[in-house]
Amino acid sequence: MSIFTGKHLLLGVTGSIAAYKAADLASKLTQAGAQVDVLLTPGAEKFVTPLTFQSVTGRKAYTDADLWGGQAHILHVGLGHSADLLVIAPATANTLAKLAHGLADNLVTITVLAARCPILAAPAMDAGMYERPATQENVRILMERGVTFAGPDEGRMASGLVGRGRFVEPTELLGHIRLLLGRDGKLAGRKVVVTAGGTQEPLDPVRVLTNKSSGKQGYALAQAALDAGATVVLVSAPTALTPPVGARLVPAQTAEEVKEAVLAEAAGADALVMAAAVADFRPKTVSADKLKKRDGIPQVELEAAPDVLLAAAGLGSGRPRVVIGFAAESRDLLENAVAKLKSKNLDMIAANDVSAPDAGFGVDTNRITLLFADGRQEALPLMGKEQAAEIIIERLAALLGEK
Ligand code: CTP
Repeated sequence: MSIFTGKHLLLGVTGSIAAYKAADLASKLTQAGAQVDVLLTPGAEKFVTPLTFQSVTGRKAYTDADLWGGQAHILHVGLGHSADLLVIAPATANTLAKLAHGLADNLVTITVLAARCPILAAPAMDAGMYERPATQENVRILMERGVTFAGPDEGRMASGLVGRGRFVEPTELLGHIRLLLGRDGKLAGRKVVVTAGGTQEPLDPVRVLTNKSSGKQGYALAQAALDAGATVVLVSAPTALTPPVGARLVPAQTAEEVKEAVLAEAAGADALVMAAAVADFRPKTVSADKLKKRDGIPQVELEAAPDVLLAAAGLGSGRPRVVIGFAAESRDLLENAVAKLKSKNLDMIAANDVSAPDAGFGVDTNRITLLFADGRQEALPLMGKEQAAEIIIERLAALLGEK
């Protein structure tokens, strides 16, 4: 079950060329399990049709014809009262101006006025219009009244001009939407530090010692914690992934850097989830210059890298109230995981058989057994890393509740 499952969203589309991107957004939200009611202004109808949205949401898309039609006032009041979130995307300068001054002259603006749910606006307008004092003042007024803004981005506009006013990409907007949907979740007001990715230990300026971690499980955990309303710090070793919207990213390359970041961020945090694959060994010396073939095959001597979880356990009273580790094992999974749970003083460990082709490093699925400090065990079936993350974060919330 994702954060979108069963949520009722209103998507108000206004008259910008970016309206075509709103169709992608509506499609993504519907696929994620939300019930999406789309409302178009007359300006939006010039760019896209209600049929575009109906085709992706499977639901009627509303226009001003409906405002003056059979259902009359009941429509906007009904929509505005039943929704979990109202998203105005794209939001033109004109619509923002109307909303800042309480105008209600079309189905979108009238529904905003009637709405009781949080409102998110994603502006889109040509360069210059967004920066104008009038627009800036309207944005300020709306923010002051609790409207959340996503974007606009800097970049190339439809006119060919470059500036601030670009509609945020639908995937990013999706992140802003889930942030609002989750804000009153089980972890609201909690700080959760998540580590992710595989560390890189340099050998020389161009070579590193690393591992096969993709970062997917850690990033999914950060997203799941955000969905539950937590304030999330994502300490990330290098990955090819985009951090979830709302997470504060702290990049770290080596075990030492992960340790420093974790100790700084986890002190006093509510929870630490160590999903990163942190190096156990690192080259003892790092060559300042690139090692050359002509100098022969180098003999690399390794030394121990710091154990981050052990260091975090040393935070004493600053230790996060819940500490969760991962165990990547290729044999004797449960025995080894139990030993790590105890030796690292963890509240829970997610044991992961990395020798299976469908679980662990690089793939999208995991088969995890959760082991708790009180001896409980929970074997989860093969599932997507997102789903595994949701379950781990649920257990984290329960552990926090017990403390
Ligand atoms: N871990 C850590 N610091 C390290 C290595 C690992 O904090 N230098 C954390 C991992 O993030 C994970 C847990 O410890 O949450 C277990 O990691 P794992 O690699 O499975 O075990 P190790 O402690 O490294 O032991 P071994 O490699 O001998 O199995």
